[in-house]
Amino acid sequence: MKLLVTGGAGFIGSHVCDAFLADGHDVVALDSLEGHYDPETKLCNLASARDYTSFQFVKGDVRDSTCLSELPSVDAVVHLAARSGVRPSLREPWPYIDVNVSGTQKVLHWTRTRSVPRLIFASSSSVYGNNSNQASAETDSVEQPLSPYAETKRLGETMMEAETGTRGLGVACLRIFSAYGPRQRPDLALHKFARLLCNGDQLPLFGDGSSGRDYTFIDDVVDSVRCALDWTEKGTFDVFNVGAGKTVLLRELIDSLGREMGLLPMVKRLQPHAADVHSTRADLTHSHAVLGYRPKTHFPEGLSRFMAWFRKATS
Ligand SMILES: NC(=O)c1ccc[n+]([C@@H]2O[C@H](COP(=O)([O-])OP(=O)(O)OC[C@H]3O[C@@H](n4cnc5c(N)ncnc54)[C@H](O)[C@@H]3O)[C@@H](O)[C@H]2O)c1
Repeated sequence: MKLLVTGGAGFIGSHVCDAFLADGHDVVALDSLEGHYDPETKLCNLASARDYTSFQFVKGDVRDSTCLSELPSVDAVVHLAARSGVRPSLREPWPYIDVNVSGTQKVLHWTRTRSVPRLIFASSSSVYGNNSNQASAETDSVEQPLSPYAETKRLGETMMEAETGTRGLGVACLRIFSAYGPRQRPDLALHKFARLLCNGDQLPLFGDGSSGRDYTFIDDVVDSVRCALDWTEKGTFDVFNVGAGKTVLLRELIDSLGREMGLLPMVKRLQPHAADVHSTRADLTHSHAVLGYRPKTHFPEGLSRFMAWFRKATS
């Protein structure tokens, strides 16, 4: 199979590329290297992918029709390119709308012109907003996103569903819950906290530490993409939660990280952020029943594997 991975140089994208290359597929990674962190970091993410002759990297923008028209035809698209990050989307929503909505529409148009039969879309748990249910299920309301980022992800899902209805494209939208692991984005809590702790700086604690996230180890995210690609052969549309199914509280995260690093974390208490949902947990009943998705990495093991990478990357 030949696969196009948009956002292929990013945190999740580079792991998707590595996994599918190792499985024996041809992979084209399209990435503009733009966004809120260092392009060099993204190029480093692709170091192991570049060892494969079946890998091709295209530096380009999903909004650029000329760039898209020069891409080879593929059997499936994993659409991960996005402006990511919840909080900055409140300050500066326009790039989010531009990349995540217009860019996604361009990718959809491209799949139509090339008759690509299957597409996996990276949606987000943020579409659930402050869900009152203990665990969010795909049937829960997604009518009250708390940030422009979440709005663009919800709109992306709607655009995907319309495309499926009109031409039978098989689409799986993966509502990913807080991915972590080696190469994690530097703006995400675990990576940011590890860096601050390492430098002896205080960790910003929004709220009282009782907020929580369902942290999904990167290998489980990659597995969900594998499962979803198999499922999309049916040419239908659906959304699936991708999580670990367990909430780690912010104060537990900080304590575990401090123990793992052998350091005593100092925190700076801040008001809860308006765009942050209080707590997340994925109900995995649907993704298990339909995709066969089952997360394998528990948080303590995932944290150790993240730290092993972090130590190497910062030594
Ligand atoms: N990391 C998470 O916890 C998480 C959770 C839910 C959803 N997601 C979604 O998963 C996807 C990947 O997230 P990530 O954490 O790997 O983020 P990332 O920022 O590391 O990766 C996104 C990649 O997209 C590229 N990109 C941005 N704009 C582009 C454009 N216009 N054209 C081409 N490439 C462009 C960036 O350069 C980057 O390499 C995103 O769609 C994100 O919204 C991530």
